[in-house]
Amino acid sequence: MSTRHESAHLHVSGQALYADDIPLPANTLHAAFGLSSIAHGRIRALDLTPVRESPGVVAIAAAADVPGENNYGSAVHDDPIFAPDLVQYAGQPLFAVAADSYTAARKAARRARVEYEPLPAILDIRAALAAQITVLPTQRLTRGRPHEALAEAPHRMQGTVHIGGQDHFYLEGQISIAVPQEDGAMLVHSSTQHPSEVQQIVAHALGKRANQVTVQCRRMGGGFGGKETQPALIAAAAAVLAHKTGRPVKLRLDRDTDMLMTGKRHDFLADYTVGFDERGRILALTVMLASRCGYSADLSGPVNDRAMMHIDNAYFLENVDIVSHRCKTHTVSNTAFRGFGGPQGMMVIEQIVDSIARALGMDPLEVRRRNFYGIDDRNVTHYGQTVEHNLIHTIVDRLAESSHYRERRRQVQEWNDTHRHVRRGLALTPVKFGISFTATMFNQAGALIHVYTDGTVLLNHGGTEMGQGLFTKVAQVVATEFGLPLTAVRVSATDTSKVPNTSASAASASADLNGKAAQAAAETIRGRLVQFACETFGVAAPAVIFRDGKVFIGERHLPFADLVMQAYRARVSLSATGYYRTPKIEYDKTTLRGRPFFYFAYGAALSEVAVDTLTGETQLLRVDILHDAGRSLNPAIDLGQVEGGFLQGVGWLTSEELWWNAKGELQTHAPSTYKIPTARDWPPHAQVKLLDERPNGEETIYRSKAVGEPPLMLAISVFLAIRDAIASCGPPGVQPDLTAPATPEAVLRSLASVRAETAPQAAAGVRVEADV
Ligand code: MTE
Ligand code: HPA
Ligand code: MOS
Repeated sequence: MSTRHESAHLHVSGQALYADDIPLPANTLHAAFGLSSIAHGRIRALDLTPVRESPGVVAIAAAADVPGENNYGSAVHDDPIFAPDLVQYAGQPLFAVAADSYTAARKAARRARVEYEPLPAILDIRAALAAQITVLPTQRLTRGRPHEALAEAPHRMQGTVHIGGQDHFYLEGQISIAVPQEDGAMLVHSSTQHPSEVQQIVAHALGKRANQVTVQCRRMGGGFGGKETQPALIAAAAAVLAHKTGRPVKLRLDRDTDMLMTGKRHDFLADYTVGFDERGRILALTVMLASRCGYSADLSGPVNDRAMMHIDNAYFLENVDIVSHRCKTHTVSNTAFRGFGGPQGMMVIEQIVDSIARALGMDPLEVRRRNFYGIDDRNVTHYGQTVEHNLIHTIVDRLAESSHYRERRRQVQEWNDTHRHVRRGLALTPVKFGISFTATMFNQAGALIHVYTDGTVLLNHGGTEMGQGLFTKVAQVVATEFGLPLTAVRVSATDTSKVPNTSASAASASADLNGKAAQAAAETIRGRLVQFACETFGVAAPAVIFRDGKVFIGERHLPFADLVMQAYRARVSLSATGYYRTPKIEYDKTTLRGRPFFYFAYGAALSEVAVDTLTGETQLLRVDILHDAGRSLNPAIDLGQVEGGFLQGVGWLTSEELWWNAKGELQTHAPSTYKIPTARDWPPHAQVKLLDERPNGEETIYRSKAVGEPPLMLAISVFLAIRDAIASCGPPGVQPDLTAPATPEAVLRSLASVRAETAPQAAAGVRVEADV
């Protein structure tokens, strides 16, 4: 059911409390980081005297001041909180300083005198490949006879795909407040998708046990994956200073520091060779995937695994060989970002399919359809999971019809035949995205529900709210289970002392996981109330129904609150925990095979763009989207996720460019130089719809589907529409070499190469050969 976001009235009136709004104890200190100014080198001397002598400074913490483990690495312990002697990226924290004001701390932090012994820095993927340095071992995923099938294929094509990174640009930056409690305990307010990990890492950093650290988060002003592992660093630094001084410490990064210091989406490079037949069907594919992981592992393992497992997107790849290099560079350590490697994998295959269509002079949509997973055959992924309940045919057929694909193709052609400078382009691309953490262990959740004697409900669960509407959805589940209006259910801040050992709110799975856990808790309490009603009123259980804030018991009914009060008097427990683990999934991460995903979410988008060939500027003119949210828990919120995810993807692929100079210094660390989309980039014509009447084929909470990440990948249609417009400037069959993001500069470069082409099928970046 569509309801507004539970905090909408607070968001719009400025009353929603974010970490920065939490009232502080009077003796709170404010902290700032001192950062490395070079990309790679040894610290010969770190003179903090000028920092210590700066006005208002109370304490400093560097590597030697961490009482426990100086590390915040989640999977692999290779992320120092403060660089010990080796620095590995420009912007790496060397120390933090606490002062009596925010400004005093920031000023002091800049006054350190650091002497470095510089070492050669490897800054990008090609350099790392040449040097063969990785943060994790190279992985390989093979099926069928890729090399033989390639040799036998009637057509072969080679190419390279460049895909840029992305800064999360959450509106609320990274922030933590550490407040010392009695007897060595620590309370931490953190803007985090992963309170349990912050708890563990703060405990390790302080040399304490988990039960001495409590982490709370009411909401984030956006996370987008950037608050899955990164907040642990901020929280640990604040906690070390709080521990040292015995005073509360607030650590909030300003935007520039945030962008310099914290990890981003991995940029990728892919070299591929594809074999295909006359009809455009892919017969064999070999791909070398390489990503810039930065200086440490962080989540690069699972991110690159997901890229490998989404290189099929919606297409059956019978013979495939994927090699995935996790390149180490002396840049910030890259991390989770909406889609988690999936978007990068899908960009590769979508460009390949687009190029096949151009090489054969076929409609790209036709080539896509020919390669889709089948319903009863050709339906097993390259990692061994059978694609069940496949909706891609239905969605693409319906979208092609409702968006008038064929007619629009013709219109674009006509436009381009009659307009020289402003060209138009069109692309319809599908999305199939696997739902579940690939690490099976994380697919579990817990909830805690209290029913008070006035009939109101307090709900707590392990998920975190970052604007995606999770708290609204889980509250809706609980209200439904008790037959109560939504106003009777309040959700309290995520808190490690209420629900323990939680997974990150990530992988789009939070409503699936926490919704089910909360349902289980509600069922437990409802079951006790039913039993009490049966005993009290002499009816059988099916005669007790919770609806409209009332309980119907046989012939009579009474307000929910009355039954609750009677149950309380009869000493019935009105509080319960709930637990859920995702069924059916199993996955062997050494062989990359199994059933990593409980199910798939689908969608498709048709985008039409205009490209100004004189300036390289692009404009999204129209988008038509059909997206699958199963039986949506809240269509209004889900539509918001689809629109927001799509536009965030458009930013990734068109305007958001991360640029490091030759010394490895990020030059784009503020909105002045890093361009995220705004409301004005929303196209003048947009039709965004959820696929109706398609309950999830798997038994998820009320048969809904996860919706957080998949829509981002609908934006690939915009990138390929731009490529289509560029191609119209060259000879038939030309293969524009377009790097992502398609900024005006990239578009102009691509146009120049396309115009230089005289022979078809020989553009830079793509080589086609035909054997027959
Ligand atoms: N929507 C908003 N408004 N803010 C966010 O930070 N994060 C995205 C997505 N949608 C995000 C968002 C990411 S990366 C994920 S994994 C999911 O929300 C996480 O929430 P869910 O599991 O409840 O979908
Ligand atoms: N998705 C998102 N976040 C994650 C995952 C995943 O598959 N695994 C670990 N963190
Ligand atoms: Mo989302 S990248 O899984 O936090």
